[in-house]
Amino acid sequence: MTKTKQQATWGGRFKSKPSDLMLKIGESVSLDCRLALYDIECSRAHASMLSKVGILKESELKSILSGLGKIEADIESQNFEWRSDLEDVHMNIEQALIEISPEALKLHTARSRNDQVSTDMRLWFKDACVSIIGDIEALVLSSLEFSKSNLDVIIPGYTHLQRAQPVPIAHHLLAYVEMFVRDMNRFSIVWDSANVCPMGSGAIAGTTLPIDRLHVAEKLGFINEEGYPIITQNSMDAVSDRDLFIEFANACAILGMHLSRLSEDFILWSSSEFGFVQLPDTFTTGSSLMPQKKNPDSFELIRGKSARLIGNNQTLLTIMKGLPLTYNRDMQEDKMPVFDSYDQASLMLKVASAALLGVKVNKSRCMSVVSDPLLLATDIVDYLVLEGTPFRDAHHKVGAIVKLSEELNVPLDKLPLAQVQSIDSNFKDNWAELFSLEKSLKARNKTGMPGFNQINEQIEALRKRFS
Ligand code: ARG
Repeated sequence: MTKTKQQATWGGRFKSKPSDLMLKIGESVSLDCRLALYDIECSRAHASMLSKVGILKESELKSILSGLGKIEADIESQNFEWRSDLEDVHMNIEQALIEISPEALKLHTARSRNDQVSTDMRLWFKDACVSIIGDIEALVLSSLEFSKSNLDVIIPGYTHLQRAQPVPIAHHLLAYVEMFVRDMNRFSIVWDSANVCPMGSGAIAGTTLPIDRLHVAEKLGFINEEGYPIITQNSMDAVSDRDLFIEFANACAILGMHLSRLSEDFILWSSSEFGFVQLPDTFTTGSSLMPQKKNPDSFELIRGKSARLIGNNQTLLTIMKGLPLTYNRDMQEDKMPVFDSYDQASLMLKVASAALLGVKVNKSRCMSVVSDPLLLATDIVDYLVLEGTPFRDAHHKVGAIVKLSEELNVPLDKLPLAQVQSIDSNFKDNWAELFSLEKSLKARNKTGMPGFNQINEQIEALRKRFS
């Protein structure tokens, strides 16, 4: 990567070249080379505009476009030599272009790397959002698949990690689907924020040259729903605004938090203590010492990586918070966290989706755990309420019955009827029949509840929406 020449782009006012250490701390091409194709796109649009307003001759435009085409092909076939002494992707491409086509000495007219990098990144964010939304959609489909194939499995739902009320395992998974749908919306809002073109802001204060900003925006696809190009409204803001970076990293951090909670559930469920599920061999690993082990590494790594996503969001906020307007070189450090959040979030989504499809549910274990009659204590309260006992009294009385069952060491549904009736005379002979999981779930038939009809409708509606 290193080959040192006189700094061709800004070297004019310097007596000596930057030191090797300056080059080392200053280079960003090792990271921002992934913006190359967006940078070329941006140069094409800029050159086309310069020719439209008469700054480039037709023949100069032609030569620049053909040079850009050659560089694009070289980059795609990995025949492009990236030079770290040229700092970043923008200068690497411009210098290589000038060697092929000397007309490109005019290309940087009325633009700066400051508006260039903002624009390149906005193009990158738009694609990144589309790709993440696609990966989330795949995970939604895997979650629906999982829910559909385990429709008849009921597990305890937990609060405080204590058994609370019975829910179909599908209801549990559909809770995550709600989170993922919100994540998709969040990334689509980030896409909207990205869809504004900063080109023409120059380094800080635009240009005296007669440029056409709308032409560039239109060429680059920064277009609103009515088909009009959208451009930034303040040159100083445009070159130093990194809100979008933070919005994207934040959407990744929230998504990561959701994936981490999902992972935590599956890690718990796959333990012998829970025994609700068996994770696929393909997404678990063994121990180098203990031969019996099968560890949930895929889900643990997703949980671990979610910390990185939160850290990246924090890094970006911290970079920005003390910077005076406008561009400061600190901002070059914005790429690592953003690219890392994207790379990790994409991988986490793909792994979660594939691992989920391989999970086997241990139905008999789930059904035996969920048969604990205590899980229906709240249903018994509801029964008393319908019989006319005020809710607070009913809650207290059922609490007393639970205490009794603990003292007698007799399961709730097996308590002697007479004793139950002595606590509340509203209890009838059908005491034992009150403990029906099926009835309990059937009655939970309003929007958002875990009744089977509800869940079926929910799955069908989501499948229609996403397949
Ligand atoms: N590589 C730089 C970055 O990513 C591009 C902008 C450079 N601008 C400057 N004034 N040195 O931030």
